[in-house]
Amino acid sequence: MTPAASSARIETAGRLRGTLLLPPDKSIAHRALIVGALGGGPTTVRMQRPGRDVESTIACLRALGVIIDDATRGSYVVSGEPWLDATLDCGNSGTTMRLLAGALAGRPLRVVLDGDASLRARPMERVAHVLRAAGAEAQTDAGHPPLRLHGRSSLSATTHELPVASAQLAGAACLAALAARGVTQVTTPAPVRDHTARLLAFAGVRVEHHGLRTTILGPARPAPFDLQIPGDLSAGAAWLVAAAIHPDAELTLDGVGLNPTRMAVVQVLRQMGADITVDESPTDGPEPSGRIIVRGGAPLQATSIGGSQVADLIDELPLLGVAMAAAAGRSELRDAGELRVKESDRIAAMVAGLTAIGAEVEELADGWRVGRGAPHDARVTTRGDHRIAMAFAVAAASGVARSVELDDPDCIGISYPGFLADLAAVRA
Ligand code: S3P
Repeated sequence: MTPAASSARIETAGRLRGTLLLPPDKSIAHRALIVGALGGGPTTVRMQRPGRDVESTIACLRALGVIIDDATRGSYVVSGEPWLDATLDCGNSGTTMRLLAGALAGRPLRVVLDGDASLRARPMERVAHVLRAAGAEAQTDAGHPPLRLHGRSSLSATTHELPVASAQLAGAACLAALAARGVTQVTTPAPVRDHTARLLAFAGVRVEHHGLRTTILGPARPAPFDLQIPGDLSAGAAWLVAAAIHPDAELTLDGVGLNPTRMAVVQVLRQMGADITVDESPTDGPEPSGRIIVRGGAPLQATSIGGSQVADLIDELPLLGVAMAAAAGRSELRDAGELRVKESDRIAAMVAGLTAIGAEVEELADGWRVGRGAPHDARVTTRGDHRIAMAFAVAAASGVARSVELDDPDCIGISYPGFLADLAAVRA
């Protein structure tokens, strides 16, 4: 049991200045560890200070018998085999559960994947369905974890038309395809982040990704690789939004991932009026990275988000809700019902928090409408959700709220363990 976290109070900063080194990109880190393990290794995953979600993936892989040597600071050397039957604690991490389920469907193992109370409330039938279609046995508890999996050493090449635009689901189908003989095809209803395809190609797997479709030729064993994980742009989005809102701000994100399927948050903030500069660095790895500089002082205008934009912004929508509450005019988010089945019901959590800080808010079944209000001192309930906690810390630091008291700041460590220390540093 972790002791109950004490609350944190965040006041509006006089100014925001500094350069931030972000935590490693969570999506890329999970995939690198899992694909490295499937390849047998030795694969080196280079990263500093991963959050608790990535630590959940490391712990699950170790429980499966995979050796992960982290004796050298900043490097995780992954060697696969043996693979053991296990009961896995995925903690708070939906990505750990869904990607590992995909990876394990193609091993002759009996595995139970479980997690914390938040993860136990999340939909797992969608991944169970995909893995059954490929030939594994997969059972949920009325649609939720625990997910019981009986994998097979050989799966069927399958054509998957996924019902939701989920990169976790597409990633699970692609990882299972490594154990299938022939061409597996995975199609999503809208574009999603493409880290799985990039990484598999980097590891020598015959994979193609165009628009909505990924095709993989199996069976395939990924070759070992050495990969530096770039900084997490979804974590960096906290600084983009904070500095875009604050009248006296200049923040630099160094070594941040610039994958085009993650850059929609930059495009939306620019459309709202934010001053953001992006410089890509040369790389021979699978993921582009570089530097982003954001300067405050430009007034933000309202925006509308919906349709196929939503999947590419899925983790940044709480922060964009805060930017909307700082903008002139009324903004709208639609088609984002998926937010209700994240680590918390993020629509309900944002509407409650934005109301508490004084914004004008209307809850919609699939989103919200938000306009500027009079900043209040507020107490915000994070619901144990790291992205909700960071969104309202940013609201306070940037002046959209006068101050915010977070009931559970500890949950931020799920994705960004150093966030409050970084906030203290950039406001000093
Ligand atoms: C992720 C995909 C997204 C995102 C999550 C990470 C991934 O989930 O919310 O934080 O790494 O594939 P969905 O694709 O299920 O929406």
